[in-house]
Amino acid sequence: MNINYISKLSSNHPIIILCDKPEDAQKILSLSKKEITYLKTKKGSCQLMKEGVSIFVEVVEKKDQAHLTSEAWRKQAAKTINALNSDKAVEAELISTSKGKDSLLNYLEGTLLANYQFAKYFTDKKRAHTLNTISIVGKMDAAQEEVIRVANSTCVSRDLVNEPVSYLNAPQLSEEIKKIGKNSGFKVEVLDKKKIEALKMGGLLAVNQGSIDPPTFNILEWKPKNAKNKKPIILVGKGVVYDTGGLDIKTGGSMKTMKCDMAGAAAVVGTIDAIASNKLPVHVIGLIPATDNRPGKNAYAAGDVIKMHNGKTVEVLNTDAEGRMILADALSYAQKYKPELVIDLATLTGAAVRAIGTHGVVAMGTADEKTVAKLKTSGNETYERIAEMPFWDEYGEQLKSTVADITNLGGPTAGAITAGKFLQHFTDYPWIHLDIAGPSFLDKAEAYRTVGGTGVGVRLLYHFIKTNYTK
Ligand code: BES
Ligand code: ZN
Ligand code: ZN
Repeated sequence: MNINYISKLSSNHPIIILCDKPEDAQKILSLSKKEITYLKTKKGSCQLMKEGVSIFVEVVEKKDQAHLTSEAWRKQAAKTINALNSDKAVEAELISTSKGKDSLLNYLEGTLLANYQFAKYFTDKKRAHTLNTISIVGKMDAAQEEVIRVANSTCVSRDLVNEPVSYLNAPQLSEEIKKIGKNSGFKVEVLDKKKIEALKMGGLLAVNQGSIDPPTFNILEWKPKNAKNKKPIILVGKGVVYDTGGLDIKTGGSMKTMKCDMAGAAAVVGTIDAIASNKLPVHVIGLIPATDNRPGKNAYAAGDVIKMHNGKTVEVLNTDAEGRMILADALSYAQKYKPELVIDLATLTGAAVRAIGTHGVVAMGTADEKTVAKLKTSGNETYERIAEMPFWDEYGEQLKSTVADITNLGGPTAGAITAGKFLQHFTDYPWIHLDIAGPSFLDKAEAYRTVGGTGVGVRLLYHFIKTNYTK
């Protein structure tokens, strides 16, 4: 979507006016007494027609917490963007009279995210969104440019999630990451199967055994000269490009959406893309182990004992608990960087979805309370909210094995937490695990979070890293 800047309204296109109260629209347009009276009867957003031009008067009730007002602006934008696309509008003009300092920024963000569509495979081009330009009355400023770049990176992440495995297998994911890195300026190194074998990444190799495509291990790095941190921040993303469950194959329709099982990887790519394109002074590294999980060839099987990258042994009790197998190798690889903080993102468990649904991110880990509190603040600001789980030692007892160091399967309860406890065995640094299985992929749009991949994690982690590690 193009964002233009204009000095005044042309009135050739639909007009969007952001207002603190409906009658403020008269500051922008000459309105009749009747129209003003009409606007005064309205409390919220409403629509007018003037000489054949639709006018969207956008009003959001001020909430008692600023981040709730911000979210209301994003959601209002989504409503209007959907209406404009239904009307087949190509361009709209936007002007703000709102005194709220971030109304326009939030509205712009909602606009860009709501207008996203994965149209690559439509042959009927009439299905594609028509709206392609928003002309804003005023001057471009740095804050708006930043919002635009972060929204673009969120859409980069969505595109990766929405690509089916027929296109996006593990080697192709690496190709895409290289293209994205070239564009925004971060470095990409792709380790192939030989190197993965040399590194003894037993978890990644085991999950890959049933596949005809080789695995990849992707290392992304943004290290500007002016980086404020000495020790890097590391982001690790689950890159299961498709999860059939493997020999413990998924049944009952639960496989349908499993192209989304690399949403953690996509969030890492999107976040580093956003950081690089905004040139944040921070050293970040992304680690993405990638493979599909299939029952073919010499697929790994329940009962197998796998030696992992850090030398620990794992008894496989369910091949569908593959995410933790590949993440474990990436988390232990991260140790060599002596990181300040490691955050992993993964569509790891159905249990996380059952616990909180699509409205937030399940979090746990070993980072101190202050760091977690900061992440929660970023969660509220970006409305990618954090639900912290307990992480007591007792949960780890469910992973005991009679033949290996640990099993890859917990008990019947607290499945999201036992998955986290498994990962903890491969960390030796402050760490936060984010289970994004719920919010990463939607069967139906929720306001500006469009159907399919949502890009969850990108706005959250961009905000968190910018706020806490660039000063
Ligand atoms: N990729 C799934 C988790 C998932 C579920 C992601 C729903 C998105 C939506 C993961 O690999 C998986 O299959 N987890 C199993 C673990 C179990 C076998 C311990 C699960 O949650 O059922
Ligand atoms: Zn699985
Ligand atoms: Zn999975």
